[in-house]
Amino acid sequence: MEKTILSVKNLSKTFNQRNHSVDAVNDISFDLYKGQCLALVGESGCGKSTIASIIAGFTAPSGGCVMYHNTQLSFQNKSAQQQRSTMQMIFQNPLSSLAPRMSVLENMKEAVIYHEKWSNEKIESEAIRHLVRMGLSEKYLNRYPHQLSGGECQRIAIAKALMRQPDLLICDEITSNLDVCVQAEIIRYLIELKQSGISILFITHDLSLTGQLCDYIAVMKNGKIIESNRTEEILNHPKKEYTQTLIKAAF
Ligand SMILES: Nc1ncnc2c1ncn2[C@@H]1O[C@H](COP(=O)(O)OP(=O)(O)O)[C@@H](O)[C@H]1O
Ligand SMILES: [Mg+2]
Repeated sequence: MEKTILSVKNLSKTFNQRNHSVDAVNDISFDLYKGQCLALVGESGCGKSTIASIIAGFTAPSGGCVMYHNTQLSFQNKSAQQQRSTMQMIFQNPLSSLAPRMSVLENMKEAVIYHEKWSNEKIESEAIRHLVRMGLSEKYLNRYPHQLSGGECQRIAIAKALMRQPDLLICDEITSNLDVCVQAEIIRYLIELKQSGISILFITHDLSLTGQLCDYIAVMKNGKIIESNRTEEILNHPKKEYTQTLIKAAF
């Protein structure tokens, strides 16, 4: 039996603005299993980032709940952070994960300093271990974010996230700013992380990125999941016209 690590149940979010409201997420449910990858796919504005933000605890939902390791996640006070200590979020812009005036080592140290009582030697050896996992080396420890390419920067953002030994990575359009070759490279590293047992929620507008990495795909439109299934079913036998349009746009 597959072990469910994350279960989103009937999640809704309405943003109320002065004279109108937006139903950004409308009765969304899905499960993510240990060591698997689920893609949330859909055009810009369909509610993907709002879901990520609710799971990560930055936004409170209007309805529904999120279960993580069979515990219902809170959106208030310290327990919300504590409950999420083994999930990490990575964003489209890698620079938003790295402090610009801190070296790579200082950035990676910051990820653990308030959580672990590690010596400097332990922090450095863990930092090197995760850089190597992402195809980099200790040579990067003393570089600053502006001295990195976009792809290197994103790989370091992932390595920084790995410092916290996460079992869930939420990746929100993390390859969208990168060229095709670098995208493929990042996907390869994500596949390796998945094989090591980490679960991944992979958010993208581009179905062409899902084939190798993702086990399941949920297609979203206007805040709803309109179709979800195993990746090969969605890519080879899409049922909804909208999914077919996304496939045509991607391949
Ligand atoms: N903080 C907010 N306040 C008001 N509306 C928002 C807010 N965040 C997102 N939205 C709206 O919710 C909808 C979904 O946005 P988002 O989740 O960012 O979509 P996606 O990530 O799929 O592009 C959009 O219409 C967006 O304008
Ligand atoms: Mg988004």
